[in-house]
Amino acid sequence: MSSPEKRRVLVTGAEGLIGSVVRRELGGRYELIALTLTPQSFPSHVADIADLAAIEPAFVGIDAVVHLAASPAVETPWEEILPNNLIGTYNVFEAARRAGVPRVVFASSNHVVGMYEVDGAPEIYGVDDRRVYDHTAEIRPDSLYGVSKAYGEALGRLFVERHGMSVFCLRIGAVRLAARSPREAARRPHAIGVAEPARLRVADRALPRRRGRSLRDRLRRLGEPAPLLGPRARARAARLGAPGRGARVGTAPR
Ligand SMILES: NC(=O)c1ccc[n+]([C@@H]2O[C@H](COP(=O)([O-])OP(=O)(O)OC[C@H]3O[C@@H](n4cnc5c(N)ncnc54)[C@H](O)[C@@H]3O)[C@@H](O)[C@H]2O)c1
Repeated sequence: MSSPEKRRVLVTGAEGLIGSVVRRELGGRYELIALTLTPQSFPSHVADIADLAAIEPAFVGIDAVVHLAASPAVETPWEEILPNNLIGTYNVFEAARRAGVPRVVFASSNHVVGMYEVDGAPEIYGVDDRRVYDHTAEIRPDSLYGVSKAYGEALGRLFVERHGMSVFCLRIGAVRLAARSPREAARRPHAIGVAEPARLRVADRALPRRRGRSLRDRLRRLGEPAPLLGPRARARAARLGAPGRGARVGTAPR
């Protein structure tokens, strides 16, 4: 049911990982309208963002858009990047403009500046490392995915300067489902998204898990040598140019 006192916020990719968090955490404060690729158990406007005409009706009467829909994997091939991340993101901004939506929040990524991380590994993961690559750093995407997010940010700039829209681009580091058990954690390694400076974000796949281990403990263990790494993490570290011994963490997978 529509609640006139609440802002109406359209969430693209509302069925996804971050979309589910947004629905859970912000559903009480805003009237959230979901746009999803496929029918869901909750009400949603079902459409492919690569199809401008199909998504346009969802933007009518909306106060803000949270644009999450995309192919989120860093190794996404061009054939998917083109419709989901490039055409789709343009369509979302354009549909918002046509409907007079004043504000768009765009889910960008650390991979816009991912080459700094590739160059800096593994030292950059040190808790005391002071390097920060914010919005003033030259963009250095590490993938077509990273390029697609830089493109989304540039589109946002265009819609601000040409169309007076308010746009926020969030370079999200890593959002992962928490493992429900140490066993699951070992089987499905995940990165930790922390509410601390980005330099503290670590891929903790190499770290032995114990129930109740704090983030600080985990970070401290980053100083431990390479044998802690599993084969996949070692391969990842090697791809990043990290030395075998002492290479402690990989980059987040997206
Ligand atoms: N999870 C992270 O760590 C992370 C980090 C940085 C940026 N991001 C960005 O945040 C956003 C959400 O990520 P996520 O982890 O929730 O991913 P996710 O895959 O769980 O959700 C993305 C959703 O987008 C939908 N989608 C994809 N293509 C679509 C299309 N053509 N039309 C309509 N819907 C489409 C998918 O169905 C999916 O549900 C993405 O833009 C991603 O690039 C995520």
